[in-house]
Amino acid sequence: MEILRSRSFLPERNSICLVLIIMFSVYWTAEALEMNTGKVPFLEAVNGSDVLLPCTYISCIGIDRLYFKWEYNDNGTMVKVMDSVVPTDHAEPVNKQIYRERVEFMGNSKTNNVSIMIWNVTFEDAGQYTCFGKNPKEMGKNHSAIFTLSVVEELRVVDNTLTKIIVSCIGGCIALLVIFMLLKNLTLFVLAKLEEKNKECLVSSGIDNTENGLSGTKATPKPTPKKP
Ligand SMILES: *[C@@H]1O[C@H](CO)[C@@H](O)[C@H](O)[C@H]1NC(C)=O
Ligand SMILES: *[C@@H]1O[C@H](CO)[C@@H](O)[C@H](O)[C@H]1NC(C)=O
Ligand SMILES: *[C@@H]1O[C@H](CO)[C@@H](O)[C@H](O)[C@H]1NC(C)=O
Ligand SMILES: *[C@@H]1O[C@H](CO)[C@@H](O)[C@H](O)[C@H]1NC(C)=O
Ligand SMILES: *[C@@H]1O[C@H](CO)[C@@H](O)[C@H](O)[C@H]1NC(C)=O
Repeated sequence: MEILRSRSFLPERNSICLVLIIMFSVYWTAEALEMNTGKVPFLEAVNGSDVLLPCTYISCIGIDRLYFKWEYNDNGTMVKVMDSVVPTDHAEPVNKQIYRERVEFMGNSKTNNVSIMIWNVTFEDAGQYTCFGKNPKEMGKNHSAIFTLSVVEELRVVDNTLTKIIVSCIGGCIALLVIFMLLKNLTLFVLAKLEEKNKECLVSSGIDNTENGLSGTKATPKPTPKKP
């Protein structure tokens, strides 16, 4: 029984294996290592504050001497901020080197976290930071993610004035509307009053007119239409 069953299933198993191998190799080339700077890869910070530049990595085939570095894009040239090597999965990074002042490594290998902190940011710190990773298990393939930092003097000053403008605008519009309604009602009232007066005038004068007219028609004799 058992032998028969396994024999009949053999070709199917082979094809499943082939599909799995193809899928695995596609996955392996595409998704072996991934650097990730988070869902929102940009930040606005006030000068003088401390900023965390987040970066994590995911690897489905495991880590073997993962080389990672942070780089700063200084007007086109990439300047190293820090670099290090993670020997194996969940091991602490070794040979940590920091090339920029006020920078500190804040990562944690247990959570595949290679974030850095910039203390007391200045306006010169603004720009693009690249989190770069290379896992020799993948034959030297490069992976990176970019985080953009902007440094401002104050947060959301423009937005505040904008809301103030909008609020005062709406207030002004409502005030204008109220004044308009009042004026409209007043005008309508005055017009109604005037009309009333006019009606009175019309009624009184109308009677006079009809009387006059009637008497007029009566009084004027019709011209004789027939004239030879
Ligand atoms: C931020 O920059 C402004 C303008 O250069 C300066 O007046 C202010 O003191 C700075 N703030 C901090 C916290 O360094
Ligand atoms: C950036 O580079 C361009 C040309 O490569 C140069 O004109 C510009 O002045 C540079 N800006 C800074 C801030 O160094
Ligand atoms: C990475 O580490 C930093 C500092 O400990 C922490 O603030 C951040 O939330 C961590 N990021 C992730 C995705 O765990
Ligand atoms: C931050 O920078 C300002 C000016 O650059 C300096 O006066 C201050 O002492 C610095 N603070 C820290 C905590 O480094
Ligand atoms: C990978 O990165 C290294 C170091 O930055 C660089 O020398 C190399 O040319 C890159 N390789 C590829 C294929 O981009």
